[in-house]
Amino acid sequence: MATAPELLKTSPEVVIRPMRATDVAEVVDIERCAYQFPWSEGIFIDCLRVGYVCRVVTMSRKVLGYGVMSVGAGEAHILNLCVGEACRCRGVGKRLLRSLVARATAAGMGAAYLEVRPSNTTAIRLYLSMGFEQVGSRRGYYQAPAGREDAAVLKLALRVADAPLA
Ligand SMILES: CC(C)(COP(=O)(O)OP(=O)(O)OC[C@H]1O[C@@H](n2cnc3c(N)ncnc32)[C@H](O)[C@@H]1OP(=O)(O)O)[C@@H](O)C(=O)NCCC(=O)NCCS
Repeated sequence: MATAPELLKTSPEVVIRPMRATDVAEVVDIERCAYQFPWSEGIFIDCLRVGYVCRVVTMSRKVLGYGVMSVGAGEAHILNLCVGEACRCRGVGKRLLRSLVARATAAGMGAAYLEVRPSNTTAIRLYLSMGFEQVGSRRGYYQAPAGREDAAVLKLALRVADAPLA
């Protein structure tokens, strides 16, 4: 996608909206390129069915990235956050993460949690830049080419006072 970096950061054409079942094929294409152990189409469909917060970032109707978050019992859990390779490093991931955090805050959640591979330094930098802090780890949480990989557990405390009006 031949798009100037600054355009993606600010363009009003870049829209974040709820994911629909008709987006899932595009989402899965991005997912398969991004992860060695990608979610299946069925997992995304299940996330939509159970009512998780599922968002896509689009430009000119094309899906650039997506995020999935569960919300409940006072906590949000960011389950997936991904931007297509061609659109990375242009602020799309941060914009998407901000919108998930805003949604969790507006829903009255006290904290947002996520797991990340310690080897995923790009994602960790994004999360730390948004104020997430490591609060623990889960042993053998992820599939890995040779066995399992631990997950770092990150938390962002949310304050209802930060929720955007309306
Ligand atoms: C992690 C991911 C979502 C970031 O999306 P992105 O759109 O590229 O990120 P942004 O352009 O919004 O950058 C946000 C911050 O991330 C960090 N970052 C992004 N790309 C980086 C890179 N190549 N190297 C180092 N830090 C990087 C920076 O801190 C950046 O903030 P800054 O621009 O203010 O310095 C994206 O790399 C991705 O989809 N990766 C594959 C899937 C994945 O690993 N998801 C996370 C699973 S836990």
